[in-house]
Amino acid sequence: MLPVIHSFTCERIHYFMNSYYTVNIHSDQIRINKFKSQTTKYICPLDFENKVYWYTEQQKIHAFGIIVRNKVKFFKGNHKDMEEMRKLIACKIIFDGIVSLYKCNRQIGEGADSKVFKVEDIVNKSSWALKCLERKDDFYQEIRMHQNLEHNHIIQFKEYFQGEQYYYIVMELMGGQTLSKLFERNLITTHQQCKTIIQALLLALVYLKNEGIIHRDIKPANIMFSQCGKLDSLKLVDFNFAIRSSDTNVQPILYGMYTAPEALCDNPIYTDKMDVYSCGAILYKLYSGEDIHSIKYMQESNLFYNIIKSGSIDFKVLEKTSVPNNAIQLIKALLESDPTKRVTASEALQFDYFQSDSLSPIEKRSRFQQRYQNDSLKIGITADFEMNIGQDAKCANVRQIEINHHP
Ligand SMILES: Nc1ncnc2c1ncn2[C@@H]1O[C@H](COP(=O)(O)OP(=O)(O)O)[C@@H](O)[C@H]1O
Ligand SMILES: [Mg+2]
Repeated sequence: MLPVIHSFTCERIHYFMNSYYTVNIHSDQIRINKFKSQTTKYICPLDFENKVYWYTEQQKIHAFGIIVRNKVKFFKGNHKDMEEMRKLIACKIIFDGIVSLYKCNRQIGEGADSKVFKVEDIVNKSSWALKCLERKDDFYQEIRMHQNLEHNHIIQFKEYFQGEQYYYIVMELMGGQTLSKLFERNLITTHQQCKTIIQALLLALVYLKNEGIIHRDIKPANIMFSQCGKLDSLKLVDFNFAIRSSDTNVQPILYGMYTAPEALCDNPIYTDKMDVYSCGAILYKLYSGEDIHSIKYMQESNLFYNIIKSGSIDFKVLEKTSVPNNAIQLIKALLESDPTKRVTASEALQFDYFQSDSLSPIEKRSRFQQRYQNDSLKIGITADFEMNIGQDAKCANVRQIEINHHP
């Protein structure tokens, strides 16, 4: 048995006489002993097969409950102990009673199988993001894969709930947008912005590789920024398709623009290199402003499937737009179609691209001119202020407009 990390006294309310217990929280279980005795009355292992219920009144937690012989037994205690217990067991077990602990604010996002809301913790008034998923087995996949991850560039989860119809993940609230929104609004305009984004992403991949996790769905909609205008606050979200590299017999993935070609073969072996490829497809788009495959093929799924599978990519578009040579070298290495020859994330971070900081003013200028000459007036400075996207992008657009008006 693992050592006790927190201990407190609780009571059970009965009709005639209340009974008292000592609750011991261990890292792997909750043990409830008869008061002042070593006799254990109830044990609740901390795993996703079990549930803890919370009873709240006047915005404070007054009791917790566990299931004993198909019934919920509640234990009443001091609210500070209850909150401490909640923190210690969060993400190790499923909670019940989302409505009594969170106030829903508004919807802030939507995925293929989920909706994401901004919510407020009723007890301490802090703000969080709440992802709601219909009850299906793959909920456990997402939380199991994510359970022990802790990294600057990976979204942090707070706790999990199960309701009648939905599962819920409470996670840190991202104050910024998704990378796909930044693309839509043409807000990535400088070499430094591209570098910051791809460096953060590669650092997340190095960490995931060490943890033995493959994300399998790296794309702009699953990349967010925790602060507006701070690109180094990048976080990878959505571990719905993540697997352990040691897993055999895993679900195949749905393919898309950022999928590596080897993932589409008959018996795919998924490796960390697949996430590296998606990173390359993102860097390609950051520099060229275009997707690696023409979007028009997406309508015809067979054709699109074969194009991705062939691994052929048109790199000429990068040469046409004067992308710096060291960026092209990195893009080609990340997008190598043979995964055994493709670089790893940590090798990619050693590339010249990350070492040198020097871009000639001509290189900068021509990149802006070719990618944004038609867009710059459309974007405008006011739009940028409205979107509160931060100093970096604002300056870039001011410069952009200058460049276009004074060639
Ligand atoms: N922590 C968060 N803070 C703010 N918005 C988020 C957060 N997580 C996700 N979102 C928004 O919700 C969308 C869907 O979330 P995601 O986890 O990708 O769901 P799905 O698995 O259904 O794709 C994201 O693209 C993003 O716009
Ligand atoms: Mg998603």
